[in-house]
Amino acid sequence: MASSLPLDEFPNLSLDPARLPRHIAIVMDGNGRWAQRRGLARCEGHRRGKDSVRAVVEAARALGIPFLTLYAFSSENWQRPGTEVRFLMQLLHRYLVTEAKRLMKRGIRVIALGDLARLPATVRRALQQTVELTAANKSMTTALALSYGGRQDIVEATRRIATAVAAGQLDPAAIDEATVARELSTAAMPDPDLLIRTSGEIRLSNFFLYQLAYTELYFTETLWPDFRERDLLGAIAAYQARERRFGAVDGAPSDRLRAAN
Ligand code: IPE
Ligand code: IPE
Ligand code: MG
Repeated sequence: MASSLPLDEFPNLSLDPARLPRHIAIVMDGNGRWAQRRGLARCEGHRRGKDSVRAVVEAARALGIPFLTLYAFSSENWQRPGTEVRFLMQLLHRYLVTEAKRLMKRGIRVIALGDLARLPATVRRALQQTVELTAANKSMTTALALSYGGRQDIVEATRRIATAVAAGQLDPAAIDEATVARELSTAAMPDPDLLIRTSGEIRLSNFFLYQLAYTELYFTETLWPDFRERDLLGAIAAYQARERRFGAVDGAPSDRLRAAN
């Protein structure tokens, strides 16, 4: 395994390098509670959560995980108080500006998913710059889900498919799962093998609704600002202990789902 992550520092975790998830998706939750428990403003939790982002991105890269999606801001998070939303946008902007060099050094490509038109212009520009700068990087793809909603993703895909049908470019009878997958914002990525949600909440909160059909779900009480390399390795170890069946009998996933995953 091409890894600079010293796995021997974690002797209680034995990972099989041949069975690493190809795509890990993370709902980074619990920043506010992390801060509130310390008598701090919620924003302090977001600030600290940025350190977890760096740690997890670098650990995933060191392990050789090809795709990592971070759910950073949902389409519903716009309903939060303006001060918090503004703080999150500033933090995102700072992350994009300060991490660019590091991302280049590590060969990490950044892509963005979601309704990016809703983001403030400064953030959109910084995002576009990072996406363009890192476009040729090959070691790992990090997808930032920003102003992202799983239902909206499906609605957008539906609209594009309907437009193609109305224009006579697509026969409705020819629409299959591959057609839909191609029109989703995640078209360039395999479906997640592993979903991690921190902070003890057991829900999807409008994340990848189509893409998670056969994803292994991992929920941990750890709050996002406390989630680091060790926790990522723990989640992967739990994933490797699962038996994925894809609706078939032991060890014989159907060709169709195997191909999709
Ligand atoms: C996750 O932490 C960050 C975002 C959703 C942007 P929260 O801010 O949701 O923290 P809790 O869930 O209130 O603790
Ligand atoms: C989900 O967390 C969205 C992100 C982590 C970006 P929320 O904190 O917004 O989810 P709910 O409101 O608890 O469902
Ligand atoms: Mg939350």
